[in-house]
Amino acid sequence: MKYYLGIDLGTSSIKLSLADEKGNILDSASKDYPLYLPKVNWSEQDPNLWYQAMLICFDKLNEKHNLKDVCSLSFSGQMHGLVILDENDNVIRNAILWNDSRTTKQVDYLNNVIGKDNLIKYTSNIALCGFTAPKVLWVYENEKDNFDKIKKIMLPKDYLAYKLSGNFASDVSDLSGTLYFDVKNNDYSDDMLKILHINRNMLPKIYNSYDVVGTLKEDLEELTHLSKNCKIVIGGGDQAIGATGTNTLVEKEISISLGTSGVVFAPVDSYRYDKLGRVHCFRHTTGKFHLMGCTLAAMGSLKWYMEDILQTKDYSLIDQLPDEISDILFLPYLMGERSPINDPDASGYLTNLKLSHSRLDILKAVIEGICFSLYHNYKVMVEDGIIANSARVIGGGTKSKNTIQILADIFGIKIKTINSSDGGALGAIICAMVGDGLYKDVTAAASALIKDKEIFYPNLDKHLQYEEKFNKYLNLYLRNKN
Ligand code: XUL
Repeated sequence: MKYYLGIDLGTSSIKLSLADEKGNILDSASKDYPLYLPKVNWSEQDPNLWYQAMLICFDKLNEKHNLKDVCSLSFSGQMHGLVILDENDNVIRNAILWNDSRTTKQVDYLNNVIGKDNLIKYTSNIALCGFTAPKVLWVYENEKDNFDKIKKIMLPKDYLAYKLSGNFASDVSDLSGTLYFDVKNNDYSDDMLKILHINRNMLPKIYNSYDVVGTLKEDLEELTHLSKNCKIVIGGGDQAIGATGTNTLVEKEISISLGTSGVVFAPVDSYRYDKLGRVHCFRHTTGKFHLMGCTLAAMGSLKWYMEDILQTKDYSLIDQLPDEISDILFLPYLMGERSPINDPDASGYLTNLKLSHSRLDILKAVIEGICFSLYHNYKVMVEDGIIANSARVIGGGTKSKNTIQILADIFGIKIKTINSSDGGALGAIICAMVGDGLYKDVTAAASALIKDKEIFYPNLDKHLQYEEKFNKYLNLYLRNKN
């Protein structure tokens, strides 16, 4: 038996999924760990606990399977987190995570003093609180003792790869979200390193997501149950790996993720970026590029309306939505907004209500508002030259066919679901398989393993009506912008 292992390092838990050579997920094990929120806007985790949780999952899987048969493993990692190690490879302080926004001062300095145009020139992106570079500056400005101890700077999944292989490595998809990586030239940006007071020798060697960075350290055989021949393939950031797990790898294909946050992910075959930095320009697992827009409260807004406001978990209400498009407008900026408006101070709006409106009318407007926030990202990408034939949709929101149909009507393109709900795990398994030589590249692996399930066609009349409503949605934001 030959096994492949995908390790998904999330924000609430780690999940290990074991697959056979055909990509069938045979089993999985997960373990959660605490998220520390010691101050307003702070979000931290202890990297040692990620490692301990991973070891527990190895134990769990080994109870039923012989992990010595794992040929290779790879990672899907929460992106942007700052992990710093000292000269003895000890973690200096808790990791500062992607959803931590303590760095408003550093972001302001980067975007307005260094300047967005320069940042785009150095990295192809502008600064956001979530990105790694402002966190490095924050440690420099607020914890100089810790900063002076830094010997290694890495991203969350790279810590696990380092522990397992002993090789200090990272990959281009995850590094793209640091703002010290020059996405266009596939190298660290010396300009950014100077701004951040760091040296190249503090940073990992750069690989593609499907590259083998080593084999299991011999002294870890007993602890992990793996063989010392098991290849460690570096993997990538969770969004690129998720898109790999939906076979969204080449230009004209896009994926839309309807999770707590929502993402529009558009691969491009040659370098392209948004001149205003409204959407991110990152490297993909193919080694090529992708544009990405992220809306913070997608299904998070739906959950808020259903569970906090309507006080129900009966999501079958979405099956009873009225067919007609009403005037009610909903802006889903309940957590501020990331892209394309990059406005942490934005807030939610619900307008144009009448006595005749029911909770179902409002529910429909909430879903439309969520889809509009995704469409807004897509429209920016269209300005940047993206033309999508269709989109694959993933995430919790896909449980409702009505939601997918509204998405198709708003986007005006075909929306497809796929045969697997294991995007993250499968994307990492695909990298592991390519690293092991089972497939020649990620595109070949994904086309062999991932199939479309259902297609939702847009209603073009509704699409035209939605274009008008989308303009009203945009105006509502602009009118109320602080
Ligand atoms: C990507 C992003 C999230 C995190 C956590 O830019 O911020 O996907 O990686 O999952």
